[in-house]
Amino acid sequence: MCYNVLDRHVKEGKLGEKVAYYWEGNSPDHHMTITYRQLLSHVCRCANVLKQMGVKRGDRVSIYLPMIPELIVTMLACARIGAVHSIVFAGFSSESLCERIMDAQSSVLVTAGKLLQHQTYAICLDVTCCCTRSCKMKLRDVWWDEVMRDSPDECEPEWMDAEDPLFILYTSGSTGKPKGVVHTVAGYLLYTSLTFRYVFDHHPDDVYWCTADIGWITGHSYITYGPLANGATSVLFEGLPVHPHVGRFWEIIEKYKVTKFYTAPTAIRLLMKYGQEPLRKYDLSSLRILGTVGEPINPEAWRWYHEVVGQGRCPVVDTFWQTETHLTSNPDFIFQTFPFFGVEPAILNEHGEELEGVTEGYLVFRKPWPGIMRTIYKNQELFENTYFRKFPGFYVTGDGCRRDKDGYYWITGRIDDMLNVSGHLMSTAEVEAALMLHQSVSEAAVVSRPHKVKGECLYCFVTLKDRKNSDQSAVFIFSVREKIGPIATPDFIQNAPALPKTRSGKIMRRILRQIARNEKDLGDLSTLADPKVVEVLFNQRSEAA
Ligand code: WT7
Repeated sequence: MCYNVLDRHVKEGKLGEKVAYYWEGNSPDHHMTITYRQLLSHVCRCANVLKQMGVKRGDRVSIYLPMIPELIVTMLACARIGAVHSIVFAGFSSESLCERIMDAQSSVLVTAGKLLQHQTYAICLDVTCCCTRSCKMKLRDVWWDEVMRDSPDECEPEWMDAEDPLFILYTSGSTGKPKGVVHTVAGYLLYTSLTFRYVFDHHPDDVYWCTADIGWITGHSYITYGPLANGATSVLFEGLPVHPHVGRFWEIIEKYKVTKFYTAPTAIRLLMKYGQEPLRKYDLSSLRILGTVGEPINPEAWRWYHEVVGQGRCPVVDTFWQTETHLTSNPDFIFQTFPFFGVEPAILNEHGEELEGVTEGYLVFRKPWPGIMRTIYKNQELFENTYFRKFPGFYVTGDGCRRDKDGYYWITGRIDDMLNVSGHLMSTAEVEAALMLHQSVSEAAVVSRPHKVKGECLYCFVTLKDRKNSDQSAVFIFSVREKIGPIATPDFIQNAPALPKTRSGKIMRRILRQIARNEKDLGDLSTLADPKVVEVLFNQRSEAA
């Protein structure tokens, strides 16, 4: 992998002096240009450091860094020595990080100051820590700058088999425990490289910008591996779209003359709120293709993206895929999707029967392709149960889908217990488990509610052990953030004296969803053990967090 994305360009392709990344820090005063040759040199140094620390082929390395060049350097250094990287999004809590370190049994953690809380060190005693920027040092920690300076900048790549693991990336599981999705070297290289080239119609003089965080699969594929495999020039942005002003995205597009821009509907909806004024100050004429990913894009956001950002001349590519899969769409002026090469979707009904023509049902895939995940780390059984048990012979995405008369696939959203908050997948069980950790909670149920910017947000029903307890919303919100991270911050907490259940004790989430959305027409309630509960919950709806 590392040879293909770096050495090949520097040594065979004469791209050594080409810019691999324009790094733009959170503050507009911080920026830096990194060429392919410089990147290769940093990666080799870092690879040597990791080896020096005892990391060997097949070992796992956890990475918990913000969007700084060290993140890309470390992931590629792992690839170079055949170590398996496990990147944890920096917006996750230290507890979430810890859980992922333990599951992967990583031997080294690479992290930066301010992010890590003291406790995590105590829990993960076996982790040797390698630091960038400032951070409290422990006995076996080493400082990035010091070790990198003294490290040789040549490192023979470890030659890997096509099917060797490249990385683990954790994604939410419906049970609440994150699943370590495993991708392999050759298939992942092929699919990130091809989708990047064809979906975004890559040309050598492009400046490409994917605004995702590398802590998610989109960043892995479309900031690191896909662009580098194509010898592309990318923008690597550490900051937020609205800092220090709401025109930051547009300013960066003008500054680097970005030609291909890839972002999420949640970002578009956020920026739409500020109107067209912030865009008018900047020259966006370099833009040629716009991409969207992460959740179904609503027509209003699509129109604004196409007409205001793309000035009506840039095709919008809607790319549907998952941490587990690699597939995407067609460049078109409409916002539906065609399958990518090698991907064979099908739509099934509840009984697993395939539906033809214009239809709607479960989105599944008929056969594997090189870019699909290989297993869940150390849990092949869970892999089989999660993706292949419901409809034998098919990979189940968990999404609903509609096919129109022209053969376009329209993703309608999750049809399992997963939520999509700002393009981040989360399971209701995960948030419920976090709430239940609080000593005063006896029961919790979490459902989604539509949100103007986030797409969906969390609406939590909480039953207290002691009914007389006063409102503790703020405490619960804090404990979910502590346990999972700020991305899982609930928007609504409702005290529920009781939850609507069937006679067999199953919580009826359909009803809770309707209460959260204030939809009064509840239909048949006869299966409820105690229908009166519903009325009480409606009367006490929560209108704010
Ligand atoms: C889920 C996967 C793709 C990387 C980021 C998320 C939803 C993703 C789209 C899209 C409609 C989409 C699906 C999918 N999703 N892209 N273009 N249109 N829905 O990766 O966290 O693994 O989430 O995100 O529900 O199953 P992820």
